[in-house]
Amino acid sequence: MPTRLEWSEYCNAQIDPHVVESYRSRCATSLRDQRDNLTKLYRAFKPKQIACMGAGFLNDIPINLFLRGGSRVALIDWIPRVSEHGFQRDLIRREGKQYTCLACELGSCPEDVCQKFTRTYSGHGKVCDNFQPVDGSSCQCASYAPGSVPRFVKADVTQGCASEFAQRVTPLGQTCKTASQCFSKAIEICHECAAMREELPLPTGSMDLVTSSMVVSQFEHEPYGYFSKFLAHRYGDELVQQEAQLIPLMERLQSDLFEMMLDAHIREMYRLVNKESGAVYFSSELFSSLPQPEHDRYYPVQLIPQALEKLRNYFTFDSKIIPLEHALRRTKMDTQFSIIQSYVLRPLPQPLRTGTSVDGIM
Ligand SMILES: C[S@@+](CC[C@H](N)C(=O)[O-])C[C@H]1O[C@@H](n2cnc3c(N)ncnc32)[C@H](O)[C@@H]1O
Repeated sequence: MPTRLEWSEYCNAQIDPHVVESYRSRCATSLRDQRDNLTKLYRAFKPKQIACMGAGFLNDIPINLFLRGGSRVALIDWIPRVSEHGFQRDLIRREGKQYTCLACELGSCPEDVCQKFTRTYSGHGKVCDNFQPVDGSSCQCASYAPGSVPRFVKADVTQGCASEFAQRVTPLGQTCKTASQCFSKAIEICHECAAMREELPLPTGSMDLVTSSMVVSQFEHEPYGYFSKFLAHRYGDELVQQEAQLIPLMERLQSDLFEMMLDAHIREMYRLVNKESGAVYFSSELFSSLPQPEHDRYYPVQLIPQALEKLRNYFTFDSKIIPLEHALRRTKMDTQFSIIQSYVLRPLPQPLRTGTSVDGIM
C-alpha cells in the first residue's frame, strides 16, 4: 500500500461480474434468513418507499419482489456501483433455455430500469434484443445500463461521520512522527467527526421501510481497517515494537469510531422513517463461534451489544412479523458460525433523551 492512498481510491474497488457471481452464490445461504425476513416484512407491510442502507451486492435484499410490488427503492452504499452490479445479477432469470429480464417483465417504463432496453424482441425468451449474456455467466446481461429504477445512491450511511474521519486521517502519516501520536490525533479527529450531520439525499420521514441488514457488523472493520493499513505501512516496525503501549489507544479508537458510526446510523434511520406508519428492519451479527463450531461455543461480537441500548432511544421492537423469541438465528459464515440478531423496529414519536450518548460521543 502506498504511504498516501486516498480514501476515495481505497473505497473504489473495481468490480468484476464474475466476482459478483461467486460472491452471490457463497453468501446466498448465509444471508438467506435476512432475505426471508425482508420478504415476510414486505408482504405484510407493502411499503411504497424503501431505503436500503449498505445495500452492497443485494445478497439479502429481495429487490425483484420490491420492484414487482411497485415500490420505489433507494439502494445506498458507499462503494461506487456495488449495488448496480448486484442488481445486474438479479435482473435476469434463467429457466432451462428461457431467459427472463425483470425490466421486460415490469411492463411500465422498462427504460427506467435499463437504459439499453429496446422494444424489439426476437425470441431469446422474455428479454429484449439487446440482451447479451456476460461471458461465462448465463445470468447477467452485459448490456445492462442502470436507469433511475431502482435509485442507486453512493453515500455514507453514518451521516458522513465515517467518510469524514477517513479523509481527515489520511494526511496524518505525513504529519505525525510516531504511531502513538498518530493514534491520539485520530481519536481527536473521531470526536470532532461525531458532530457531522450529512444527511442522505432522501426527505425526512419519507420512508415506509428502512433496512439496515448486516451493515453495523461492518462498522468494526471500516474505516478502522483503512487507518490501520496505512499505519502499518508507515510505522511498520514501530507498531510491532510498541504494541503493548499502543493497544489501549487502538482499542479506544476502535470503540469510539464504532460508537460514533452507530449513533449516526441510528439517527439517520430514524430521520428517514415515516414516524406514523413506517418500520425499520435491523440486523447484525451478535455472536461468532470459536473455530471449532461443533463445540457450540460463541463469543459476543465486540461492541455490537451496545446497539440494542442505543436503538431503544429511538424505536420500539415490533414482535408481530419477527417474533422476538425468534430474533436470534444461527447461520454459517465462511468457516465459522454466527448468531444474527434481527428486529423490526417502530419509531418513537420523539427520540428519548437519556443524557448519555444519544447525540454522539460526549
Ligand atoms: C455486509 S454488507 C451488508 C449485506 C449486503 N446487503 C450484501 O449484499 O452483502 C455491508 C455493506 O455495507 C456497506 N457499508 C458499510 N459501511 C458503510 C457506510 N458507512 N456507508 C455506506 N455503506 C456502508 C458496505 O460497503 C457493504 O456493502
